[in-house]
Amino acid sequence: MSNTNEPKTAMMAAVGLSPDPGAAAIRGPEIHASLEREEAVLEVDCFSLWYGTARALWDVSMRIPRGKVTALIGPSGCGKSTLLRSVNRLNDLIDSVRIEGDMRLNGDSIYDRAVDVIELRKRMGMVFQKSNPFPMSIYENVVYSLRIDGVTDRRTLDEVCERSLRGAAIWDEVKDRLHSSGLSLSGGQQQRLCIARAIAAEPEVLLMDEPCSALDPIATGRVEDLIADLKGSYTVLMVTHNMQQASRTSDYTAFMYLGRLVEFGPTDDIFMRPHRKETEDYVSGRFG
Ligand SMILES: Nc1ncnc2c1ncn2[C@@H]1O[C@H](COP(=O)(O)OP(=O)(O)O)[C@@H](O)[C@H]1O
Ligand SMILES: [Mg+2]
Repeated sequence: MSNTNEPKTAMMAAVGLSPDPGAAAIRGPEIHASLEREEAVLEVDCFSLWYGTARALWDVSMRIPRGKVTALIGPSGCGKSTLLRSVNRLNDLIDSVRIEGDMRLNGDSIYDRAVDVIELRKRMGMVFQKSNPFPMSIYENVVYSLRIDGVTDRRTLDEVCERSLRGAAIWDEVKDRLHSSGLSLSGGQQQRLCIARAIAAEPEVLLMDEPCSALDPIATGRVEDLIADLKGSYTVLMVTHNMQQASRTSDYTAFMYLGRLVEFGPTDDIFMRPHRKETEDYVSGRFG
């Protein structure tokens, strides 16, 4: 992966790419005014990403508000997961990826050469589409990050375990079997366990990529309620292709299309009073 800042047009000509095909259709993003009053945890600054010669993100700039749930919506392939993975530099693992621009977590550059990526990732929690409990007890799953940091004090571990499981709305279901395997739980419980594990590390931002897409409707409801409850205590940036989910759980919604941020504003406004025609077409189900 490389991070060059040479002029884009020269670079595109050099690798034989055609100019931005959607530029005429989509102007800069529409950022609703209320977002400017929010304090940002995460700032995305003119961020672009290529997989080889295929450009997946086009100059994305956005500020993710602290203590709020922000949903990223848009049709399949529009770059939601790419943007989310870029926040904790999971895209570093793909050789062909090249980026331009930067992101900042609480003011600290994410893409600066001096950044220790392991330390950076410790500052964020990531919850994936498919729950991934570690093959160990419920208790050890939750306190995993403390174990890695060498915490051995039983009282501290017990406290963090209970607080995190309560925070993830699963304490009552598992408190009598903390030493059973995390893999013995149902799918929806496993996903809440993964959220408990993520919040135990006190992340500055929780990243979730379609966290309910592998769950049945009842488990989805439980996890959605949990995400809505995390508002205020945690900053969540969540990808979803489910618009009802975005409208139920999030404070703010960002609509992406063809690798660009199109519109970003309070969730109710994005769904009920979007400023852009592209957003309206998408949220009213005309495409996607
Ligand atoms: N590992 C990869 N290698 C090459 N292209 C990829 C890779 N991951 C995603 N893409 C491409 O990047 C674009 C955005 O994909 P993605 O971020 O997964 O979209 P979304 O999450 O919105 O469905 C798509 O065109 C997809 O095919
Ligand atoms: Mg995706």
